Amino acid sequence: MIEFPKDFLWGAAISAYQTEGNNLNSDWWDFEKKAGLKDASGLACRHYEFFREDFALASLLNLRALRLSIEWSRIEPQAGQFCEKEIEHYREVVSVLRERNLEPVVTLHHFTNPLWFARLGGWQNKKSTDYFLRYVEKITLALCGQVRFWVTINEPMVYIYHSFILGFWPPQEKSFFKALQARNNLIKAHIKTYRLIQDIYQRKNLAKPLISIANSMQAFVPCSRSLKNRIAVYLREKYFNHVFLDRLKKSGALDFLGINYYTRSLVEVERWGLRNLFLDICKKNHSLLPKNSLGWDIYPEGMYSVLLGLAKYRLPVFILENGICTDDDSQRWDFIRGHLKSIYLAMQKGVKVWGYLYWSLMDNFEWDKGFTPRFGLIEVDYATYKRKPRDSAREFAAVCKTGRLDLDAE
Ligand code: FCB
Repeated sequence: MIEFPKDFLWGAAISAYQTEGNNLNSDWWDFEKKAGLKDASGLACRHYEFFREDFALASLLNLRALRLSIEWSRIEPQAGQFCEKEIEHYREVVSVLRERNLEPVVTLHHFTNPLWFARLGGWQNKKSTDYFLRYVEKITLALCGQVRFWVTINEPMVYIYHSFILGFWPPQEKSFFKALQARNNLIKAHIKTYRLIQDIYQRKNLAKPLISIANSMQAFVPCSRSLKNRIAVYLREKYFNHVFLDRLKKSGALDFLGINYYTRSLVEVERWGLRNLFLDICKKNHSLLPKNSLGWDIYPEGMYSVLLGLAKYRLPVFILENGICTDDDSQRWDFIRGHLKSIYLAMQKGVKVWGYLYWSLMDNFEWDKGFTPRFGLIEVDYATYKRKPRDSAREFAAVCKTGRLDLDAE
């Protein structure tokens, strides 16, 4: 039996675009149609209408924290035109969370942008940061009385990788140069957002907010100890896992380390070359580990090594996403249990962890992969929009209630 601290924040995460439905003014809405994705987000989970019911379920599951995101394109559907009705909607969302004793963890940018912003060049535009800050100020002023935890940008490196290097997501660029431009603007956006939010709280005499990013981290494991592979692992750890944390910490713009962890990546570099060193992955299919329904290795040991690798920052950690998509719910509980064990072991080694948010509270629109991957603690029936907590949710709820986890139990 292991036991987590009494004040450990147990919870789950969602994002606006993946759950709300009808985000008509977002760049993703446009992209889905143009790219002819197999599933378009459409009504998603209709969470925009059903958020009260969803939060009621979250609190029945003994969760104490809920991470969600604000859809910028709702707040500012046209450049410079802010929609009071939508601001009011999120005010309501956050106050319902509070009524349910769920600590809101609010993300300001979770992969999607307003279409007008994308059409102006998105994160490559020199003015992108100014545009973003304008929206941040509006929403911070509206929510500051009720929100303590802010996440500025979700997984900036994953966003850059998919949108500017692989070209899978809008704006579908494949350019290291453009990726760098976007990266620099996102770094700038975070630092300025950090200062702006801190400033607003100070002016209003509110308790200091806690601000970070949601930093995606993978365990990079080399297939062999060849020099190419070792250099690749070094580079990937530095540029995928740590670059944002390093830069933001240096600017004094992080109050904690927001971490998303899902899987490992097997590194096998075919030949010398910058693209190879950064992008080559093992194609031999020789991993014997169990996988999720998207084929990602299930590797709880990686959670442990990633957490220990954060010691140099001397900041507390908050796990903002960790989860599995699977059609076999018993695999979900095994996954959660394995990862909680790794977190516990890392805490025994001195890593300070504030909380754990499972991805996701409910099944939702998994970007280009559509509705097939099922990540939810709660099952969503997309024909009726009925919600049904899974068995794994009940297992997790018991841990959330007591803070205790029996590692020997079946
Ligand atoms: C993360 C994203 C989240 C979801 C999970 C599965 O990279 O932040 O929106 O797609 O992966």
